Amino acid sequence: MEKKLFYKKIDHTTELKSIAESDAQEIFRLINTNRPYLRQWLPWIDYTQSVADELAYIRTVMGQYQENQSVACAIWYKGNITGTISYHPVDWPNRKVEIGYWLGEQFQGNGLMTKACGAFIDYAFNDLKLNKVEIRCATGNARSRAIPQRLGFTHEGISRQAEWLYDHYVDLHLYGLLASEWRKNR
Ligand SMILES: CC(C)(COP(=O)(O)OP(=O)(O)OC[C@H]1O[C@@H](n2cnc3c(N)ncnc32)[C@H](O)[C@@H]1OP(=O)(O)O)[C@@H](O)C(=O)NCCC(=O)NCCS
Repeated sequence: MEKKLFYKKIDHTTELKSIAESDAQEIFRLINTNRPYLRQWLPWIDYTQSVADELAYIRTVMGQYQENQSVACAIWYKGNITGTISYHPVDWPNRKVEIGYWLGEQFQGNGLMTKACGAFIDYAFNDLKLNKVEIRCATGNARSRAIPQRLGFTHEGISRQAEWLYDHYVDLHLYGLLASEWRKNR
């Protein structure tokens, strides 16, 4: 039997919904109109050149969701898709997961991603019963770093030359949050 798709209403303007095949066109358009801005920090932008590429990604993550490996959501704000948030495949033996995210440039500055991450952290600890959530972001990516900082993550270190971005390596900050810490601060 298919798992019920993920849905979370964050507030009266903002919802998280499992990415669906019917979202492919809108998500591709958002990526395509934000290419230089997203490319600065995301390694997969050049591999997303058509709606078909986006559709292939969506089918992969939908399969992973059904197999309890991941969750990938579109972030809906006032009826429009503004970006996505997803888990990397869950590390079940170690009960931990990493969150990845992006927004269209025009949707920055509203707290959307901080709220979406809060919902994904709740789901990881309360529903999936994981022990740790991680976020990695490039050392120069101040807006991304501000998200785990705002949410009370601990800075655990810097992994050197940990990601290849088209023509150069970047160092990644590692932020970690334990289930016990999240519960204590709620
Ligand atoms: C990383 C990224 C998602 C951050 O976006 P963002 O809009 O800065 O983050 P949020 O949506 O959480 O919004 C935070 C901003 O909204 C403001 N805000 C308003 N209401 C808020 C609320 N209720 N809660 C938190 N912040 C709120 C904050 O003050 C902050 O604004 P400021 O930076 O001007 O101080 C975005 O820059 C992005 O997609 N970048 C390109 C892709 C990328 O780097 N992905 C991550 C790779 S690791």
